[in-house]
Amino acid sequence: APMTGPARKRVVLAEPRGFCAGVVRAIAMVERALEVYGAPVYVRKQIVHNHHVIATLERKGARFVESEEEVPEGAVCLFSAHGVSPQVREGSAARGLEVIDATCPLVSRVHQHARRVTRDGRVLLLIGHEEHEETEGTRGEAPEVTIVVESADDVDRLELDPATPVAYLTQTTLSMDETAGIVERLRSRFTDIVSPAHDTICYASQNRQNGVKSLLDRCDLVLVVGSRNSSNSLRMVDVARDGGVAAHLTPDVSHLDERWLRGVTSIGVSSGASVPEILVGQLVDRLAELGFRDVEIDVTSVEDVTFSMPTQLATADAATA
Ligand code: F3S
Repeated sequence: APMTGPARKRVVLAEPRGFCAGVVRAIAMVERALEVYGAPVYVRKQIVHNHHVIATLERKGARFVESEEEVPEGAVCLFSAHGVSPQVREGSAARGLEVIDATCPLVSRVHQHARRVTRDGRVLLLIGHEEHEETEGTRGEAPEVTIVVESADDVDRLELDPATPVAYLTQTTLSMDETAGIVERLRSRFTDIVSPAHDTICYASQNRQNGVKSLLDRCDLVLVVGSRNSSNSLRMVDVARDGGVAAHLTPDVSHLDERWLRGVTSIGVSSGASVPEILVGQLVDRLAELGFRDVEIDVTSVEDVTFSMPTQLATADAATA
């Protein structure tokens, strides 16, 4: 459209953005465990993939470790929202750890499905990123018969007979478009293939990706607040770029590069499922200082999902029970 004057610079905030129900629950479980058991409590891996969340919980007395083997025998140990393999559960039991499992219920559902199809004698083709903790955990359900598939090209490289009974599953935080292409390739390659009854990309990833898509026709830049190891945040950046709009992952305001803003009038902002709103607020404040003073909200869906705490932490006297 022809411009009638200098366009007003603006920010369009995607909604929903930020914390999903699994992240809210996992963080609350660490806080609750600190109240109930007292500091320190140990957390295996980052409880959620956000450096700000980790730093805040560390100050309250959480200790983050890479492996259950680093946790002193008998101590309290939380498992992160991304889930763990059965091997980790066994190792933790062997050390007598008081385990508190903050695995997102939607990840647990994927594990259940992995157990079911592999018990039925199928090879599990797990669509996901090899090095991601969620994939590691899910693969651990049946490591001998699980193959991780990262791309449609990976499907062509599989050394399996087309008649092999297979089943596929996806990591919860993938991009819907990318996954659809891989699934299509699997379906044309295998004759006996079982798909999950429900899409295993979680509602939060879907909604945040849809939110980014909606920004694309009204923004000339998209900033996704999220840490570099956050799968769902990275996929949001992919969605914007695949739609032809410049996009950057911005872990927090200190990573904003003002060169990105040259010639830009409308900036779409969203955040991954593990990102506290304060980080978005700081970015929006900085953008206002830089001239992007108008803020609009773009609502693409309304989320009302919540997950309850396990009974282990739900009552005040859990520690003495
Ligand atoms: Fe769960 Fe999806 Fe959040 S799997 S932790 S609801 S991003």
